[in-house]
Amino acid sequence: MNKVHAVITGIEGYLPDYILTNEELSHMVDTSDEWIMSRIGIKERHILKEQGSGSSDLAVKAIEKLLAKTNTKTEEVDFILCATVTPDMQFPATANIIADKLGITNGFGYDINAGCSGFLFALASASKWVEVGTCKKVIVVGTEKMSSIVDYTDRATCPIFGDGAGAVLLEPTTEDVGIMDSVLHADGSGRKYLHQKAGGSIKPASHETVDAHEHFIYQEGQAVYKHAVSRMYEANKEICERNNLASNHVDWYVPHQANKRIIDSLIEKLQLDPQRVMINIERFGNTTAATLPLCLWEWENKMKKGDKVILSAFGAGFSWGAIYLKWGYDPK
Ligand code: UT7
Repeated sequence: MNKVHAVITGIEGYLPDYILTNEELSHMVDTSDEWIMSRIGIKERHILKEQGSGSSDLAVKAIEKLLAKTNTKTEEVDFILCATVTPDMQFPATANIIADKLGITNGFGYDINAGCSGFLFALASASKWVEVGTCKKVIVVGTEKMSSIVDYTDRATCPIFGDGAGAVLLEPTTEDVGIMDSVLHADGSGRKYLHQKAGGSIKPASHETVDAHEHFIYQEGQAVYKHAVSRMYEANKEICERNNLASNHVDWYVPHQANKRIIDSLIEKLQLDPQRVMINIERFGNTTAATLPLCLWEWENKMKKGDKVILSAFGAGFSWGAIYLKWGYDPK
């Protein structure tokens, strides 16, 4: 019998309406469109403004469209895997909140926190549940309300991040498409360069932590940048070598969208055709666990069944890696 693969059979995304431009940011902190475009490559990002709304609400919007598009009933969904660093609450898992808001009651769910590699880790993990036959219809969603942990008085981090969600439906197939291979890596010593200081068990929230802005993203940008460039390059090399893929055998590269310069150096080091690299950072910013599915969503109608796709990401943890998949369907 042919091997069972997990294949993406549908994709959707959602971005909140409000657009925060570089122009508006330049009135909030000492920055400029010129600096942000030349150093990061972001023009605007979407922000969830509605009071009382969180990452689950972004995910629900994307998944509602996904269920309609793929004719999937809520009772058919047996597993929701949610990748996020901005859960609705410390607990319970945002996956459970999403399921409740959608009326998904037959399945189970949990969250994965692998920083900007969250969707990558989630997709690789969920594919195993499908391959062994436990799950037949799985939703993998990357969803972030990054604006909830961005310090809008810190010019070094506030231009980078945006809010959004991207979700895929994952199903089993015996055809030669779907998730073919993955390489995942982590190095917890990198946490000193990128973390949120307070709000966890080491330093619970207090008046002092709030006053000291310790519930926001702390990032040493240059150190993270250097690791991101080398680790994403290595992960791309590793996944291609393991699968005997020359770079001209790959139809689409989907890199995490953290900084346009990181993507450009990946293109240069791997000698990629820029037309084959999905890039939307200019309009969405870094939506952390949502960048990869938001790219796939935007490029959905350009991909054909069997197209070879490499996803790669690097982020907090540090955690990084790559997935090799064959796209599952033609444009509708
Ligand atoms: O997705 C998770 C993984 N995260 C990443 O991959 C992010 C990796 N890091 C980066 O993308 C970049 O390091 C940043 C975009 C965060 C920063 O860019 P950079 O080119 O590394 O700038 P820098 O931190 O070295 O700062 C250079 C200068 C500094 O001024 P001085 O000390 O040279 O006078 C900063 O104060 O730029 C200044 N600066 C700004 N100037 C205008 C920092 N932020 C801004 C700003 N506007 N927004």
